[in-house]
Amino acid sequence: MNEKIRPNGTQFEGKEEYVREVFTEIASYYDEMNEMMSMGMIKGWHRFMIRKAGDINGKKCLDIGTGTGEIAFLLSENAGAGGEVFGVDITPKMLEYAEKKMKERNLPKPVVFETGDALSLVFGDCSFDIVMSGYMLRNVTDVQKAVDEMYRVLRPGGRAVVAELSKPNNRVIRFFYELYMKHRVSRLGRKYDNGEPIGGKYPAYEWLTSSVEGFPKGKEMTEKFTKAGFADARYFVKSMGAVNIYSGIKK
Ligand SMILES: C[S@@+](CC[C@H](N)C(=O)[O-])C[C@H]1O[C@@H](n2cnc3c(N)ncnc32)[C@H](O)[C@@H]1O
Repeated sequence: MNEKIRPNGTQFEGKEEYVREVFTEIASYYDEMNEMMSMGMIKGWHRFMIRKAGDINGKKCLDIGTGTGEIAFLLSENAGAGGEVFGVDITPKMLEYAEKKMKERNLPKPVVFETGDALSLVFGDCSFDIVMSGYMLRNVTDVQKAVDEMYRVLRPGGRAVVAELSKPNNRVIRFFYELYMKHRVSRLGRKYDNGEPIGGKYPAYEWLTSSVEGFPKGKEMTEKFTKAGFADARYFVKSMGAVNIYSGIKK
């Protein structure tokens, strides 16, 4: 039975297992869909994240919910041979694609990809200079815990930069955004996931698009960063509000 997505339905029973099933299912076409759904803007969002991280050269970096590794690859290119980059994800299948892609990238140093949970990172306190995460927070069962973990593994002065999808605030823009999500993205998604429910729940792209509904964004999200202990928690609105990029500095 395909459960109805509730308002603020970003949390539900069995979510962790469901999320892993979704990303296992879509891993082979994840990058292609991202490119189409974002109309090619995703690369610009990633470059913006890199700029917000400051000087990455020679730094130790972590990409949480790395998926097929795009942010981790960018971090590696910027960290150079003197840096170190780790990418963790809860879905082994996504990491398989990251490893496969890495063979075709000419990185200064390979990224270390590992299976791991954002809610209980295996890394010690204060082990990274930079922590990034792209479009993962919507998928976790405890957003505050994920942000707390980012804070814990950062060194004092280290920076977190996190991207997440959001619904535009402006009514006119939101109208066109909703049209785009409802028609173009849903139709595209259905072509790939065939509208098949996963684990008795939503089809993959129904989840990925609807989970934006009611998900904390802007100030509500920076409050979670401040609560975790971050100084200078702020957010940047990209693509007319379709994406928010958050940053904070460990005290
Ligand atoms: C939308 S994808 C984003 C992938 C990548 N960051 C990007 O920018 O394309 C979300 C990723 O988060 C991972 N994920 C979800 N929950 C997680 C958790 N608790 N710990 C680690 N990774 C998780 C999923 O497996 C998936 O690969």
